[in-house]
Amino acid sequence: MRKPIIAGNWKMNKTVEESIALSNGIKRNLFNINNLEVVLCPPVTSLSDVKDVVLDTNIILGAQNMHWEKEGAFTGEVSAKMLKTLGCKYVIIGHSERRTYFGETNETVNKKVKSAITEGLFPIMCVGEKLEERESGKTFDVVSLHVEKGLLNVDKKEILNIVIAYEPVWAIGTGKNATAEQAEEVHKFIRNLLAKKYDREISESIRIQYGGSVKPDSIESLIKEKDIDGALVGGASLKEESFVDIVKKASRVVKEK
Ligand code: 13P
Repeated sequence: MRKPIIAGNWKMNKTVEESIALSNGIKRNLFNINNLEVVLCPPVTSLSDVKDVVLDTNIILGAQNMHWEKEGAFTGEVSAKMLKTLGCKYVIIGHSERRTYFGETNETVNKKVKSAITEGLFPIMCVGEKLEERESGKTFDVVSLHVEKGLLNVDKKEILNIVIAYEPVWAIGTGKNATAEQAEEVHKFIRNLLAKKYDREISESIRIQYGGSVKPDSIESLIKEKDIDGALVGGASLKEESFVDIVKKASRVVKEK
């Protein structure tokens, strides 16, 4: 069975002090959750301190981005190895904000995915359509391009280290989440793509999480769906109360799933 994963993507929020306070609050409330993975992705400046807070708990550390090169003259960038040695297990790759504001393409996403795996990190690869793409009936074309190109030359062994996050761009930060049915339709489509590209057994073991305005009142219906294996949470992960609520509600649903 796939172990669901709920990750908080803090984006460019929280100073070191604020990160320590938030992660401590989350730890106090979620130390005994073990039927799903809880991942915190603070800004890179807070990784080291949050690592110390979650040490010896089930809470896992993730980063929000990385460069694909091992090292070198890439001012301002961070390598997979740097993140790994800081205690990260996961790294978000190809978030729509990176694609939109920082020129990331399916090609750079693919390079990052490959490099992350080589260095022993688990990529959370983001895919998802924009509003105009959904409205013009291109959702499946866009998602399939993101998946195919992002996973170019990723073999059967490597794919098992990847989590896919379906994040429809129109749902990110808008307060308008995809309905459980809308999300499930795309998750199922992605799982079928993976079955074609790899095989059915592999596709059934890969986690596909949903992201886009996930809140305490939407998590239950989303995670009840067969192919939705958790959530990538933005805004609601910045407050202890809402993130804890999301994880606890998800955990209760998972027990019965
Ligand atoms: P929101 O939950 O704020 O919509 O952000 C989702 C997201 O981008 C997570 O990566």
